[in-house]
Amino acid sequence: MKGLILSGGYGTRLRPITYSQQKQLIPIANKPILFYAIEDVIEAGAKEIGIIIGPNKEQVIETVESEDWDAKIEFIYQDEPKGLAHTILVAEDFLDDEFVMYLGDNILRERIMEHAKKFKENNCDASIMLTEVENPQQFGVADINEDETIKRLIEKPKVPPSNLALVGIYFFKPVILEACENIKPSWRNELEITDAIQWLIDNGYEVGWTKVEGWWKDTGKPEDILEVNRLILADIQTKNEGTAENSRIIGRVIIEKGVEIKDSIVKGPSLIGRDCLIRNSYIGPYTSIGNECVIEDTEIEDSIVMEKSEIIGGGRIIESLIGKEVKIKRKADLPNGKKLVVGDNSEIVG
Ligand code: G1P
Repeated sequence: MKGLILSGGYGTRLRPITYSQQKQLIPIANKPILFYAIEDVIEAGAKEIGIIIGPNKEQVIETVESEDWDAKIEFIYQDEPKGLAHTILVAEDFLDDEFVMYLGDNILRERIMEHAKKFKENNCDASIMLTEVENPQQFGVADINEDETIKRLIEKPKVPPSNLALVGIYFFKPVILEACENIKPSWRNELEITDAIQWLIDNGYEVGWTKVEGWWKDTGKPEDILEVNRLILADIQTKNEGTAENSRIIGRVIIEKGVEIKDSIVKGPSLIGRDCLIRNSYIGPYTSIGNECVIEDTEIEDSIVMEKSEIIGGGRIIESLIGKEVKIKRKADLPNGKKLVVGDNSEIVG
């Protein structure tokens, strides 16, 4: 089985962060979201992975190539985001075998291994993954027959026939190419993968499905990123490779090499990346601090701070997503409990 992972698109709902960073590269527990997808696809047995790139393609290539992967990775350029089914057409030459298509901003706890096995066992032409959601209008939704076969798939229905949403991970045989060639753009002017799968059903091909039981997130908005950060940190194991002086470390905390913590409290689950300096501060639960950050005279909790940022005298910061190389500096205390979404390279000086 091959892997096709999507890492294009503009990520408009994650601005300002996505003005300078490709959304699939936003770190969750200090690891780009995209890496969770790559690891999952490799674990499920893919030896060849095609990564669809678009805007910020150089960033994606550089980030992926900074790691050694146990699979051959090639990059496939999509000049314009014209829909998920369009990416399949763009990747046509690569897709000569069965494959898993994985949206690079999707993340799920249980991983795809068992779902991939069922796809192989059932020998379907395609297999989708469904999960119960509270807001089906925002996804592709499945209408299931009494005998558990799929009756119909509808993209973003106003009146959803069920609460079973399509997860952004799909297993296909190459016949999906024919489906993608035969569908028309939707109301949002995209070639929808949901319509391509519906084309398979309408043309007598077999489409199976499996149910996702653990958590799944499509990380489209800052709140989703913070929620997944919480979910991932909830499972970490303590590791301390830094130094702490006159400080308290409480609960499960990962402290990477070169970290100096002085006169501070760090409460887990939280994660402090390499070479950070934490001074006279409180790092609260569910916080991920990227490599080479400086946090001084600040209380921060339930937040992500990306690499090389400096927060000095930041007051109390909660539920925030702070980009790379951001500088937040203030001598006097800021008002309590700020929620921030700050893009890369910003300066907030008080
Ligand atoms: C896409 C699919 C949708 C699916 C969702 C999962 O939506 O079109 O069917 O439920 O991914 O993340 P989009 O993110 O393009 O709105």
